[in-house]
Amino acid sequence: MNSFINNLAIYTKGEEKNLPVIFVHGFPFDHTMWDAQTAALYKNYYCITYDIRGLGKSAAGDGQYTIETFVDDLNSIIDHFKLKKPVLCGLSMGGYISLRAIERMQEKFRALILCDTKSVSDSDETKLKRAKAIQRINEGQFEGFINEFVANCFYEEFISEKRKEFETILNRSKKNNPIGVKGCLLAMAARTDTSSTLNKISIPCLIVCGSEDKISPPDVMMAIADKIKSSEFVLAEGAGHMTPIEKPKIVTEAIRSFLKRI
Ligand code: MLT
Repeated sequence: MNSFINNLAIYTKGEEKNLPVIFVHGFPFDHTMWDAQTAALYKNYYCITYDIRGLGKSAAGDGQYTIETFVDDLNSIIDHFKLKKPVLCGLSMGGYISLRAIERMQEKFRALILCDTKSVSDSDETKLKRAKAIQRINEGQFEGFINEFVANCFYEEFISEKRKEFETILNRSKKNNPIGVKGCLLAMAARTDTSSTLNKISIPCLIVCGSEDKISPPDVMMAIADKIKSSEFVLAEGAGHMTPIEKPKIVTEAIRSFLKRI
């Protein structure tokens, strides 16, 4: 970790003079989700990753968060590092945070990258699944919940072919504080729907989706791309919901090519 600001673990790579890119990870993971991308991009871009409040090495506190809290955290990072027009890149829950940040303060960003995410808020069915997950964790089944949730995020092929890598990620997720995990579940369940403002996004936008993503499938993400005038869509063939990890080269090259053109 490079710094611990406002109880958030923040990691920077590259030179401050370069265009900043802030990467926001998904749930229930941490900043290491973007390791392949920051390793490939840091020579030309100022890469900033961080652990979302409640996850990784960021403090869980009382577990009372909302997506607004997470957007405030993102804003505090931009202010702390005095970042001028960073590119914002979010995956899944990181995408929920990014879409709300753009809704609140689009003028602060140079461009947007959305990976495997959705603009719609949770359906009642999904809210009930989140409630069930919290109940399971309260009943001492934290590991069981993480096992099932994390496995569902990956395409089966990745799990069988890259078993060791998968287990490292799974074990890292199990190290999260259950208070933080429950806080994130509640924040996601309570999030607003950002669909009606997608057509107001005017900054360049790259949309990346795994062909085998069960959580935010290609048709859902293509519909987002259709609504954002300035967007382009990249399908990561053979990836599930965790595209930057499952198909790091495709995702890194899509980001690199996009960043060169904005
Ligand atoms: C994520 O990857 O951040 C989660 O799958 C998002 C969600 O549960 O809605």
